[in-house]
Amino acid sequence: MKIEHRIASKLTEERARMQNLVKEHGKFSIAEVTVEQVYGGIRGVPIHVTDVSHVDPQEGLRLRGYAVPEVLEKLPKSEHGEYPLAGGLYYLLMTGEIPTKQEANQVEIEWKVRSNVPEHVFKSLQPMPAYTHPMTLFSQAILALQSESVFAKRFYYGIDKEDYWGYYLEDSLNLTAKLPTIIANIYNLKYRNGIFVQPNPKLDWSANFAYMIGKHDPAYMDLMRLFVVLHSDHEGANVSAHASHLVASALSDIYLSCSSGMNGLAGPLHGLANQECLRWLLDVQSHFKVVPTEEQLRQYLVEFLASGRMIPGYGHAVLRVTDPRFTAQRDFACKFLPDDPLFQLVDMVYQILPGILSQNGKVKNPWPNVDAINGTLQYHFGVTEADFYTVLFGFSRILGISTHVVWSRAMGKPLERPKSLTTDILESMIKSV
Ligand SMILES: CC(C)(COP(=O)(O)OP(=O)(O)OC[C@H]1O[C@@H](n2cnc3c(N)ncnc32)[C@H](O)[C@@H]1OP(=O)(O)O)[C@@H](O)C(=O)NCCC(=O)NCCS
Repeated sequence: MKIEHRIASKLTEERARMQNLVKEHGKFSIAEVTVEQVYGGIRGVPIHVTDVSHVDPQEGLRLRGYAVPEVLEKLPKSEHGEYPLAGGLYYLLMTGEIPTKQEANQVEIEWKVRSNVPEHVFKSLQPMPAYTHPMTLFSQAILALQSESVFAKRFYYGIDKEDYWGYYLEDSLNLTAKLPTIIANIYNLKYRNGIFVQPNPKLDWSANFAYMIGKHDPAYMDLMRLFVVLHSDHEGANVSAHASHLVASALSDIYLSCSSGMNGLAGPLHGLANQECLRWLLDVQSHFKVVPTEEQLRQYLVEFLASGRMIPGYGHAVLRVTDPRFTAQRDFACKFLPDDPLFQLVDMVYQILPGILSQNGKVKNPWPNVDAINGTLQYHFGVTEADFYTVLFGFSRILGISTHVVWSRAMGKPLERPKSLTTDILESMIKSV
């Protein structure tokens, strides 16, 4: 069944479920908000409901209820490798169902049909200074595509609220279809003298990115399939997902909303951590010149932390265990690049750093997150431009973000409008009790 038909078949039941919760339990209190939370990045305050994915502090990511190893095992695989087709992943995210191979291929075909990127998109990037960060170019390219929004055009002439989600889905399929060509040609613009490469119709979505940047190694194509699954979503309230969701709640279309999300992802405490992490590992490597002993590395890490700096790739706002996305990539590395010196350094840091961070007492999660290794894998296959890594993250993450947005329109969710206070108001609230 096609994605739109599968979503349509679930809508009546899902809307009734939500409406019943609001009607029967509308006044049920989910959480109290403390002063600490208001000043502390609204940490832990539930702000919306989404069934696309969930991050359990002890278990990590579940996509539509499936843990990372289950997703990797159950989704239909590419004929040319061992890892899942992104088309099947998008089907799972959008519908909540594990697709058949045919359904996964149907999304891949749909993407090929919609993959042509209008000329003005790349033209808008060309005048940018050579030192522009690729995330800026990525966000800009998505914004340039907004001219093509079907939702925005139809809204102008008036559409039934019930039908919003269908146009958001249409825009989402159009946007995601173009992403491999967009990001590959941003890469080529920045690092390969601006050559323009068209997608290869024989390849799947994830592998096509590899092909267009001139990486034809089947192992790298499989890495990209794995990378896309692992980075596709991480529940609905992280900075990029929340930013996109907030913007789309104003009925801004999928292009406006995803471009906003990418601007959040470009921050060093969020998606940019993967570029910082690779830089940090290379610094450690060049500091030691040869492989350090455990004791040398321990001392280095202790001194580094004592200087007040943070170590990218460690810690998490929600997780309290090793990120299963780190584990899945480590498994890949053990298979494809066990002797890579940078991977060996990643592994040594993994053995030593959590103990040090735990002793120091202030870091709530001493374990590695997804970013502690993803750059190392890219680097091994010759994608050495660390400032591009967040673009790869964003490319994958738009699959999740666009799904949250489509479903919010399908459920008829309203404009988001939380409340801010002044310091005076807060002080008088405290005094009054
Ligand atoms: C992810 C991150 C932003 C979570 O932030 P958080 O929820 O505020 O983390 P915590 O509550 O554990 O932070 C408590 C303290 O530990 C510090 N800390 C957390 N992770 C740290 C790290 N990797 N290295 C050094 N110090 C760290 C924080 O800076 C904070 O210090 P402070 O009290 O002096 O301000 C944070 O762990 C971090 O900056 N990690 C490195 C960047 C990274 O990997 N980001 C990608 C996330 S997927």
